[in-house]
Amino acid sequence: MSAVTASLCSTLLFVGLFVFVSADPETITAEPGQNVTLTCQAPNNNITVVKWSRADLGEQCVLLYRDEQLDPEHQHPSFKNRVDLQDREMKNGNVSLILNNVTTADNGTYECHVQKYGDSLKLISNITLSVVDPPGQTAGDTGKKSGGLIVGLIVFVFVVIAVVIVVVVNCRERK
Ligand SMILES: *[C@@H]1O[C@H](CO)[C@@H](O)[C@H](O)[C@H]1NC(C)=O
Ligand SMILES: *[C@@H]1O[C@H](CO)[C@@H](O)[C@H](O)[C@H]1NC(C)=O
Ligand SMILES: *[C@@H]1O[C@H](CO)[C@@H](O)[C@H](O)[C@H]1NC(C)=O
Ligand SMILES: *[C@@H]1O[C@H](CO)[C@@H](O)[C@H](O)[C@H]1NC(C)=O
Ligand SMILES: *[C@@H]1O[C@H](CO)[C@@H](O)[C@H](O)[C@H]1NC(C)=O
Ligand SMILES: *[C@@H]1O[C@H](CO)[C@@H](O)[C@H](O)[C@H]1NC(C)=O
Repeated sequence: MSAVTASLCSTLLFVGLFVFVSADPETITAEPGQNVTLTCQAPNNNITVVKWSRADLGEQCVLLYRDEQLDPEHQHPSFKNRVDLQDREMKNGNVSLILNNVTTADNGTYECHVQKYGDSLKLISNITLSVVDPPGQTAGDTGKKSGGLIVGLIVFVFVVIAVVIVVVVNCRERK
C-alpha cells in the first residue's frame, strides 16, 4: 500500500467513523458469527404483540410474537432459529431481540413495534445493525508481503550462489 492510499484509507475511515457516530438511530456493530442484542424498551403494560421487522424484507418479519407465542409463519427464512426475545415474559416492557450468528446480510435498520392490549401496533424504536468483517482482513496483506520477502530472499541467495559459481569456474579456466 502506498503512502497516498494509506492516508486516503485513514481519511475515509475517519469520515466513516464520524458518519457512524453521528448517525441518528442507535447503531450497533458486530462481526460475522457474533450474537447480538437489539434493545427495545416498550411501555410496561399488557404487551400482546411484538413485531421486529426490517423495511427491506417487505411483508416478512424478523420476529413476530402474538397469541402468547412466536409466529414462524410470517418470519423471513434467514432468521429461522436465529432469533428470540431476550425475555419471553417481557418483564418491564423489555422486548429486546437476540440475533445469533450474524452475517453481513443482517445489517440494516431494525424496527421494533409493540401492540398493547386494546391498542394498535406502534413503532417504538429503530436500531441499526452494522455487520462488518473484522479489521484482521488486512493481515492477509502483511502475510503476502512477508511471503514476497521470503521468495525475494531465496532468489537473492540463488543468484549469489550462481554468480560465485560462474566467477569460480571462470577463474579456473584462466589458470
Ligand atoms: C451464540 O449463542 C448460541 C446459542 O445461545 C451459543 O451456542 C453460541 O456459543 C453463542 N456464540 C457466541 C459467539 O457467543
Ligand atoms: C391487561 O389485559 C387484561 C386482559 O388481558 C385486562 O383485563 C387488563 O385490564 C389489562 N390491564 C391494563 C393495565 O391495561
Ligand atoms: C432489557 O434487556 C436489555 C438487554 O440485555 C438489558 O440490558 C436491560 O437491562 C433489560 N431491561 C430490563 C428493564 O430488564
Ligand atoms: C453461523 O452461520 C454460518 C453461515 O452463515 C454457518 O456456516 C455456521 O455453521 C453458523 N454457526 C452456528 C453456530 O450456527
Ligand atoms: C451493510 O454493510 C455494507 C458493507 O459493510 C455497508 O457498506 C452498508 O452501509 C451496510 N448497510 C447498513 C444499512 O448498515
Ligand atoms: C424508523 O424507520 C422508519 C422507516 O424505516 C421511519 O419511517 C421512522 O421514522 C423511523 N423512526 C425512528 C424513531 O427513527
